[in-house]
Amino acid sequence: MAAKKMKCVKVEKKGGIAWVWLNRPEKRNAMSPQLHFEMDETLRVLETDPKTRVVVIAGAGGYFSAGQDLKEFFRANEKNPAGRKAAAEAANRWRWERLYKYDKPTIAMVEGYCVGGAFMQLCATDFAVAADDTVFSLSEVNWGILPGALVSKVVSDTIMPRKALYYCCLGEPFDGVEAEKIGFVNFAVPKEDLVNKTIELAQKLMAKSPAVLRATKHAVRQVRTMDFDQSYDYLAAKGQAIKVGDTEDSYNTGLTQFLDKKAYKPTFEPFALKGAKKPKAKKKAPAKKKAAAKKKTAKKKTAKKK
Ligand code: ACO
Repeated sequence: MAAKKMKCVKVEKKGGIAWVWLNRPEKRNAMSPQLHFEMDETLRVLETDPKTRVVVIAGAGGYFSAGQDLKEFFRANEKNPAGRKAAAEAANRWRWERLYKYDKPTIAMVEGYCVGGAFMQLCATDFAVAADDTVFSLSEVNWGILPGALVSKVVSDTIMPRKALYYCCLGEPFDGVEAEKIGFVNFAVPKEDLVNKTIELAQKLMAKSPAVLRATKHAVRQVRTMDFDQSYDYLAAKGQAIKVGDTEDSYNTGLTQFLDKKAYKPTFEPFALKGAKKPKAKKKAPAKKKAAAKKKTAKKKTAKKK
């Protein structure tokens, strides 16, 4: 992130992962205009940061986010259309336009509360891992608005229509286990496993060819709204486009490592990226070792007898 100190967002980088923390835990990470401006700039910078390979969106203090800040985002801007517009633009840009089309894989790590407007970034990230006791709530109906910005749309695009209607119209809270069942998150795990599960997923993503992964996530998202002819065309062009600037020369490398070197099986794992540590040669299983030792002693004994 830029050298400028941020008030509402914290970034930590480790091992290729940039952890982006909404950082207003005393307000349950409710999203103020300032937080939106900082998130927008943070994601802009990280998208081309060479040290960042995966971005994780999380909330400090054990809370993903209590949604829009009802005081600072809504009430304080009621008579300030210019301020409201600027905040809304930044809010929508980072929570949707940036994240949905992001050039790097993104993961939402969800715990504590995930309410209202926070569903935008939940649905925009590529993957989501939640603590099983997270409280999810589309609370808008409970205080007098509909799930605005794009929340109604992205929620009904992400999960089953009856469930979307139910939770939007009832505003009833649900937990991480239900969120996994209906498709809001990929995994619900016990809270103590949340960080490790997120890192495990990030590491799996980092083992893939970045160019192929980028094209794949863009493709899967874009074809949803295309018809079959458009999809054929788009996917063929996108497939060709991977080759431009692919530092791994993925297609040729993958085929060579499988067909010629017999180094891996694509059904189970990705080809080894340049500079990736080579897997150590498998040690002999203890049982096999024992059998080999037995054979050796038997051989010696027979030789002595002779
Ligand atoms: N906007 C503004 N302030 C908030 C918000 C919010 N969305 N959520 C929490 N806060 C503030 C509280 O006002 C309180 O501030 P204070 O210490 O100055 O009084 C502080 O955060 C802590 O909140 P508590 O309610 O005391 O914390 P608790 O853990 O008991 O409850 C909970 C948390 C369940 C999230 C509750 O605060 C709540 O229901 N908040 C509203 C959530 C919501 O409906 N968000 C809007 C969604 S709709 C949209 O985003 C468009």
